[in-house]
Amino acid sequence: MSQFSRLFPFVRPYLSQMALAGVLIMGVAALNLTLLKLGGTLWDLITVQRNVERMTQTILLFLVIAIIQSVLSMGQSYLTTRLSQLIIADFRTHLFRHLQTLSLSFFAKRRTGEILSRLMNDVGVIQNLVTETPIDSAKQLVTVVGGLAFLLYMNWKLCLLIVLLLPLLVLVARLFGKRLKSLSTQIQDHTAALSTLIEEVISGIRVVKSFVRTDREEGRFGAAVDSLVAGTLRRAKILSVFIPVITLLTLMMAGVVLWYGGKQVIDGAMTPGDLLAFVLFAGILIGPFGAAARIFSQMKEGQGALERVFELLDTAPEVTDAPQAHALPDVQGHITFSHVSFAYDPRHPVLTDLSFEVRPGELVALVGPTGSGKSTIANLLHRFYDPTEGSVTIDHQDLRDVQLAGLYQQLAIVPQETVLFGDTILENIRYGREDASEQDIVAASRAAHAHDFIASLPDGYATLVGEKGVNLSGGQRQRIAIARAILKNPRLLILDEATSALDSESEMLVQRALQRLMAGRTTVVIAHRLTTIQEADRIFVLNKGRIIEEGTHTALMQRDGLYRHLYTLRMVGWETDPLTPHVPQ
Ligand SMILES: Nc1ncnc2c1ncn2[C@@H]1O[C@H](COP(=O)(O)OP(=O)(O)OP(=O)(O)O)[C@@H](O)[C@H]1O
Ligand SMILES: [Mg+2]
Repeated sequence: MSQFSRLFPFVRPYLSQMALAGVLIMGVAALNLTLLKLGGTLWDLITVQRNVERMTQTILLFLVIAIIQSVLSMGQSYLTTRLSQLIIADFRTHLFRHLQTLSLSFFAKRRTGEILSRLMNDVGVIQNLVTETPIDSAKQLVTVVGGLAFLLYMNWKLCLLIVLLLPLLVLVARLFGKRLKSLSTQIQDHTAALSTLIEEVISGIRVVKSFVRTDREEGRFGAAVDSLVAGTLRRAKILSVFIPVITLLTLMMAGVVLWYGGKQVIDGAMTPGDLLAFVLFAGILIGPFGAAARIFSQMKEGQGALERVFELLDTAPEVTDAPQAHALPDVQGHITFSHVSFAYDPRHPVLTDLSFEVRPGELVALVGPTGSGKSTIANLLHRFYDPTEGSVTIDHQDLRDVQLAGLYQQLAIVPQETVLFGDTILENIRYGREDASEQDIVAASRAAHAHDFIASLPDGYATLVGEKGVNLSGGQRQRIAIARAILKNPRLLILDEATSALDSESEMLVQRALQRLMAGRTTVVIAHRLTTIQEADRIFVLNKGRIIEEGTHTALMQRDGLYRHLYTLRMVGWETDPLTPHVPQ
């Protein structure tokens, strides 16, 4: 119940319209009952009283009521759909907004397909729950209450008979309901697994094709589809027993009514028309009980969906503004890491007691074997994560004490994996600064040595790049990403392997441009290719989450350490990094 009540804030703005839809549907249900009653009266007018004039009047009344009922029904149907769309649009937007506040750690742990499934499938299930279910319930309620009241008024003994049989129906419904709920949850899990799989295969289609694994993926997909079908069929089996059982019980009730009522008509205690109306009413009561089962299963299904969606909504961002966080003024770019330790997973420490300082305007390079924690340092500096111990400061202010938005505005990162959105090149670069003019964008592209290749494309800056910029080369994508960072004009620039896909000459040109641009600002460069960082003011050599050497290229080359070792490997043409680097003691 508490899960359901949490939906209330989303429904509240539409409450009056919901109430209107409720009134309309109740009107429809009440008019339906009236039509049935009129049917009984008509029957008596035809068979017993044989009065043509009154029969004609009654039929006219019947038609008028039928027309009113249709109009109400139309209004209700449109209103309900409209409301369910509006409420769910709000809900989905709220969910999406929340999702964007969540920290990187959340996205690192979740699969995209799973999140996607919650936003699409589960929210779809909830959509039924917020409008269709309550409105359907209102309609059934009127039918049950009105129907029973009428039966009670007409013949309380007969009615009592029906009422006694009701609990039996409820009991059967409950019995099936439990089983249905667990099955519904399973089915939704299978559906989510399917979306995840599709998402994974599509985003990794190159790998799938190149490793000739389409059969394997088809097998996995087939297996997932099979479990979905199996779950759905199990539910169908239960439903296919459930609904006939309920119907049978209801029909048996009708049989009892007909037998007892028929006897009364024959004895002259009841008119045939009254019996007809009575049977019709008893018959119409089947509807609510069939609907009760449907509503029940919708609620159970909805409960599972709500749990999953609220689990997302209840996830708090790990990295967030502290209550007393203040705005970060324009920074100089003085960075310190003091005794920083960090682990993504507590069992596996990544950085251990790391301390270093970067002075404003410095160009600092981080080098080290793969997995040594370079990107992690960039993550902490960007405050995508908070350190588990120690602190990171910019201009002597702990990052945890400043507002995130202000910090992010002064930082730009060109990440290891280039992300381009499905839009034009121009808009992709403009992502760096929304109010940038076209001239600014061209200037940034020139600095990133991207302008020439962009201008040579048939559509120039208006070229659409795919979801992941698939129609551009790796180096071209990197240069667009660099242009985007340059456009942002940050005080602090982090380049994580940002030039790794460029040839040596372009890399040198981009670096020169960056050096010019970043004069007086702080730059942290992460690079595997050591030739690219020779001009750094200082180089930190990282190994297993610790800084083991520090100095300029020349100073480090004079020492017989990891840096010289890595550099020498490179010079003799060992292009890849050794997996387990030899660390000279
Ligand atoms: N999101 C994550 N969750 C758990 N562990 C992670 C995560 N990201 C990185 N790691 C682990 O942290 C360690 C350091 O990773 P990091 O990405 O900082 O290395 P790196 O020095 O940038 O390596 P490379 O040169 O290959 O980019 C690795 O052992 C990696 O397995
Ligand atoms: Mg990295």
